Amino acid sequence: MAPASAVDPAVLASVRDHLAQPVEQARGLPGFMFHDPEIYALEQERIFAKSWVCVGAEDELARIGDVKPVEVAGRPLVLVRDESDQIRAFHNICSHRGALLVTEKGRRKVIACPYHAWTYGLDGQLHKTPHICGQGIHDSPSLDRSLHGLKPVRCAVWAKLVFVNLDPMAPSLDEDLAPLSARWAAYDFAELRLGATRDFVLPANWKLGIENFVERYHLPWVHPTLNGFSGIRYSYELLHARFVGVGSTGFAPPTPHGPLPSFRGLPESELRRAEYPCVFPNVMLGMHADFMYAYVLTPDGPHSTKERLYMFFAGDAAMQPEYAAAREHRTEVIAGINVEDMDIVSRLHRGCASPAMGGAVFSPVFEKTSQLFQRMVIERLVETPALETVLAAE
Ligand code: FES
Ligand SMILES: [Fe+2]
Repeated sequence: MAPASAVDPAVLASVRDHLAQPVEQARGLPGFMFHDPEIYALEQERIFAKSWVCVGAEDELARIGDVKPVEVAGRPLVLVRDESDQIRAFHNICSHRGALLVTEKGRRKVIACPYHAWTYGLDGQLHKTPHICGQGIHDSPSLDRSLHGLKPVRCAVWAKLVFVNLDPMAPSLDEDLAPLSARWAAYDFAELRLGATRDFVLPANWKLGIENFVERYHLPWVHPTLNGFSGIRYSYELLHARFVGVGSTGFAPPTPHGPLPSFRGLPESELRRAEYPCVFPNVMLGMHADFMYAYVLTPDGPHSTKERLYMFFAGDAAMQPEYAAAREHRTEVIAGINVEDMDIVSRLHRGCASPAMGGAVFSPVFEKTSQLFQRMVIERLVETPALETVLAAE
């Protein structure tokens, strides 16, 4: 039975302490933590409003003036490629009365509010306030436009993926992801080319999608085909404070349409390596010799998660028409694995609704990763300031 208030600090501290035990004795997050709306709200404030959150791919904003609305921790934001070719993020609300500005992906010369036509440049500056002081009088002595531009949000690009962070005090994205950049120094991110996207709706809590991704215990039963060409006997763990997941030294997928070009300069010894870290909190990566994928997860309440798959290939050569069938096949293989996962993860979600689900018992060999991911979650829920303090500070 869920406690009267799931966000009671004593309850969260108890969950944290049980999770912090050695994997053999640890107990995972209780089932209510995947269903309770108060826990969801707390995660939004203490995790999503405090972290570098992935919101898409740079190629979705390829041209100056491209805009894309996104939402992070319940805040509507808009991504914009400005005149200086930089991707910026702003709160997607008008400085006048707060109307939502951009509701669809598209291309704009300016950002004009549909309500009273206040108009902003791609740099967020407020340029026009038509008729603000009566018919034909577009300026107001009481309004300094330079103080009423769109409110900026920190935004940065890593591995062709766009991240935002609502926390002005957080370290930079480069600093935050330096350990993974160093680990993957052999892969030149400049070579990444977005080749395909796919959208999914996972009928489950976002955390279940990720904890499934970071463990390979389920491969023989849920992914018998994948287990055939990248078996758990080749696997190893990635256990790091900033990313968690698994790797394989024996990734050899079928190539009915021939091989794809690999990243330039990759040592021969790395050609069969694949690594699958979750970069906390919401992006699941798959790095391979000839492609990288990213699943970007957007929680949509405690019971549903939007997922967008981005498939990147290695260099312009891989994007040539003669590789179209190979790219398509690789994309379908990766998407098909996700479909297999979605079915089992939705079962996990429904099972976790039971009051009898007091918390996972972990495989000491295969599930240190799931334990670490759950610890990343609970540590943030326990140790950050109270919700009221977070909101007041904004
Ligand atoms: S709310 Fe945007 S112009 Fe009035
Ligand atoms: Fe899986």
